[in-house]
Amino acid sequence: MASINENYLKLPGNYLFAEVAKRVKQFRAEHPQANVISLGIGDVTEPLAPTVINALHKATDEMAKKDTFRGYGPDQGYAFLREAIVRTIYKNRGVDVTPEEVFVSDGAKSDCGNIQEIFGLDNVIAISDPVYPVYLDTNVMAGRTGLYDAEKQQFAGVVYMPCTEENGFVPQLPKEHVDLIYLCSPNNPTGTALKKSELEKWVEFARQEKAIILYDAAYSYYITEDDVPRTIYEVAGAKEVAIEFRSFSKTAGFTGMRCGYTVVPKGLMGYTKTGEKVSLHQLWQRRHATRFNGTPYIIQRAAEAVLTEQGQREIKQTIQYYMENAKLLCAGLQKIGIEYIGGVNAPYIWLKTPDGMSSWKFFDKLLEVTHLVGTPGSGFGPSGEGYFRLTAFNSRENTEEAVQRLQTKLHI
Ligand code: MLT
Repeated sequence: MASINENYLKLPGNYLFAEVAKRVKQFRAEHPQANVISLGIGDVTEPLAPTVINALHKATDEMAKKDTFRGYGPDQGYAFLREAIVRTIYKNRGVDVTPEEVFVSDGAKSDCGNIQEIFGLDNVIAISDPVYPVYLDTNVMAGRTGLYDAEKQQFAGVVYMPCTEENGFVPQLPKEHVDLIYLCSPNNPTGTALKKSELEKWVEFARQEKAIILYDAAYSYYITEDDVPRTIYEVAGAKEVAIEFRSFSKTAGFTGMRCGYTVVPKGLMGYTKTGEKVSLHQLWQRRHATRFNGTPYIIQRAAEAVLTEQGQREIKQTIQYYMENAKLLCAGLQKIGIEYIGGVNAPYIWLKTPDGMSSWKFFDKLLEVTHLVGTPGSGFGPSGEGYFRLTAFNSRENTEEAVQRLQTKLHI
């Protein structure tokens, strides 16, 4: 008899975006004439940059010739890409990261979900609330939490760091000891970003607690404010306490291409039960080599092209385009008197549902009345109840149409 991992049974319902997709599919089936516009899952809509397309063609041609064909690549990623990452992402900001510390993967989602495997099950995790659901769900699956309390909408044994109106939607240092701290900045879903002075507090806290910060910087290219670090390693001492996850998905339109990377500094240490130090870099390297056979060569060449000067110019234009959409959405919400934050350092707008409506009720109403899809805030954590996320990832035309519908159809 094959027994199952019963931790999976602790998870209430579907994965957030799967649930949204299911409901939208049903709505479309029942309303085949409706022109549904999705501002739900944060998926890019604009084509890849020309420089990236050229690199893809070139790499594809190489795969067609016997002398340039490539089979398995290095587990950790090709040196050409790891070196380009170090140059463009880190050295340009005066940050010392070496190519050996970079692990190329098929995206930040996988890495954020997989990283917990190299840590003991007895670690106490701290997560911002609301936040990208992958951090929590993967820890539940691994058995690092207790049961789900439906009333509190919380798992036992997890330290939730509520990000609310009262604290400016910024996670506060926990009062108790924690071992693994998930931070996402700019935050998905609220769009708030941690300023340098705030990140310094987190690094200091982690050092005191011998904790590790798992820092998701997937949206760092959307930061517009100067006092917000683009990487946690801009903070002194962060290399001793932090792992950073990054992605080409939102940066360069790679959601369908799959390429991300994780930086695990060589000096970063975890501890055995008897208190001996163990290199987390070595553990992650072991895991990566065992479970992963590398991101496809042509995709890595495309990612390398993103990091060239021309590639950077092109992707920044697309990011600006999405951020213009964000501005339109914010202005539209303001006009109809809906409170919101975000849209400045991230492509997400976090709005307060009108009349204290629950997040899912607002989801249903918005879909029914305006044929617009968003993401219910409660899906990102209990403090997201009563909030709702809109994404700026869409065409200008659809965004303008969405704003128009919000203003004319959503009577609140
Ligand atoms: C989101 O909508 O939060 C993201 O697209 C999900 C993801 O990046 O996996």
